[in-house]
Amino acid sequence: MNLEDRPIGFFDSGVGGISVLKEAIRVLPGENFTYFGDSKNAPYGTRSVDEVKFLTFNAVDFLMKKGIKALVIACNTATSAAIIDLRDKYSAIMPVIGIEPALKPAVEYNRSGKIIIMATPMTLAEAKFNNLMENYKDKAEIVPLPCPGLVELIEDGVIYGETIDRYLEDKINFFKEQGIAAIVLGCTHYPFIKKSLSRILENKVPIIDGSKGTVRQLKRQLIEYNIISKRKECGKVEINNSLINNEIISLSYKLLNPNE
Ligand code: DGL
Repeated sequence: MNLEDRPIGFFDSGVGGISVLKEAIRVLPGENFTYFGDSKNAPYGTRSVDEVKFLTFNAVDFLMKKGIKALVIACNTATSAAIIDLRDKYSAIMPVIGIEPALKPAVEYNRSGKIIIMATPMTLAEAKFNNLMENYKDKAEIVPLPCPGLVELIEDGVIYGETIDRYLEDKINFFKEQGIAAIVLGCTHYPFIKKSLSRILENKVPIIDGSKGTVRQLKRQLIEYNIISKRKECGKVEINNSLINNEIISLSYKLLNPNE
């Protein structure tokens, strides 16, 4: 198969990376995509860095066997733990794109109040995020907000309703009273609860995720490596998961195409 016709590999600890895949299909409709979610081992965000590295490299082995031409780590947690090592190993042969909390666009809104970064405990503890925060600390008041337990709910398909509302209210209400400039969704699972979050914030606060920036970077790299697809018709999307059951695959497709 021609290099440019090969699929782009997407990886996440579970179904979260579907939120980034969705944006990639919108921007690059002619590409083929192969997704791998490691729901059997999710959540990653409360594991050790070494465990996440090990699991991420295993997942990338799986995608390599599918003949991918580019790799997107659509998981903030796996990016924090493994992106440097992954680039060391693979960037000579293909683009390796990661994702990080979209702090820059949140600061650029220039609204008064706190910028809340919702993410997994590991993402917020790792050097990658702390270096990013350091760059913006004089421009905005940034509050890291670890959200343990939220990924598990989303993996179970709970994306709206009373349980999600209660979880989010417990996290957010305290800051609501103090004034929120923007909320950054620093975990690729969280865009699926954006509607609930937005309602709790009375649609008054910008909620930003990293998918747009990540896909822009993917497109740039495909052009740079000269492997962007020239196909006019829509490409294929294949979804794989380490959990061998139909429920997780149908949840993945439901999250990808909520109106079907
Ligand atoms: N989607 C992953 C992220 O972006 C969730 C990590 C987890 O499994 O805890 O961080």
